[in-house]
Amino acid sequence: MKKNFELIYEGKAKKVFSHDHADKVIIEFKDDATAFNALKKSKFDGKGELNCQISSRIFELLGKNNIPTHFLGIKSEKTIIAQKIRIIPLEIVLRNTAYGSLCRQTTIKPGTPLEKPLIDIYLKNDELNDPLITKDRIELMKILESKDLELIIDLTLKVNKILKIFFENIQLKLVDFKLEFGYNAKNEILLADEISPDNCRLWDLKQKNDTIVSLDKDRFRNDLGGLIEAYGEINKRINDFMNSIK
Ligand code: TMP
Ligand code: ASP
Repeated sequence: MKKNFELIYEGKAKKVFSHDHADKVIIEFKDDATAFNALKKSKFDGKGELNCQISSRIFELLGKNNIPTHFLGIKSEKTIIAQKIRIIPLEIVLRNTAYGSLCRQTTIKPGTPLEKPLIDIYLKNDELNDPLITKDRIELMKILESKDLELIIDLTLKVNKILKIFFENIQLKLVDFKLEFGYNAKNEILLADEISPDNCRLWDLKQKNDTIVSLDKDRFRNDLGGLIEAYGEINKRINDFMNSIK
């Protein structure tokens, strides 16, 4: 970045910089990829830019559908401007189809459709390896009030309804995804972080047989190769669809 904005925070996939306006931040999407709490690390040229574009389109869509989000606009190929928030240290995972840790930790078979969306909440704490957490433990730790937890769960279910239909339109199955929320300066709860193939599982519905073709970070997690090609395909389908409905 040309101007010297102050680095406020660096995560595994993004950097957060100060903005001239105290209630705003600049978020840069990095090319770094990590999995299994950064036990596995790599870098993919162009990933930051693709995730920035994909996430921005999705946040615009959610905003139009009355989901309150931190997103204010795209700044450059791999940076956005967002409202400054205090992140709530929870990772809200919603699953439509069983896969990943749900299948490792239960006897449910991979690919099983779930009768209703399953919400799994994890404590966002790298040192503790983001453990699965209960509502009672969240209350005990005073992470947030129960009415706010209910609001976050309700928003997550609404996001799922919007995104499931959106992705089906571009021949992608939304298997599961992870959301993060925060409070802005007015203490309003906003959807934050990103929504991209880094934190969603998206399966290609263009396949003729039942084989699972992951177009998301499982390509890296499971050493499948072709991560940038997969993210590029998601970006292309989103752009083609958005242009077709203009
Ligand atoms: P899981 O099956 O590994 O629990 O992942 C569920 C979803 O959450 C999947 O779409 C990937 C996403 N996820 C993250 O975004 N960050 C994480 O740290 C983890 C573990 C999962
Ligand atoms: N984001 C997590 C990590 O960096 C895990 C994952 O997405 O699988 O390790």
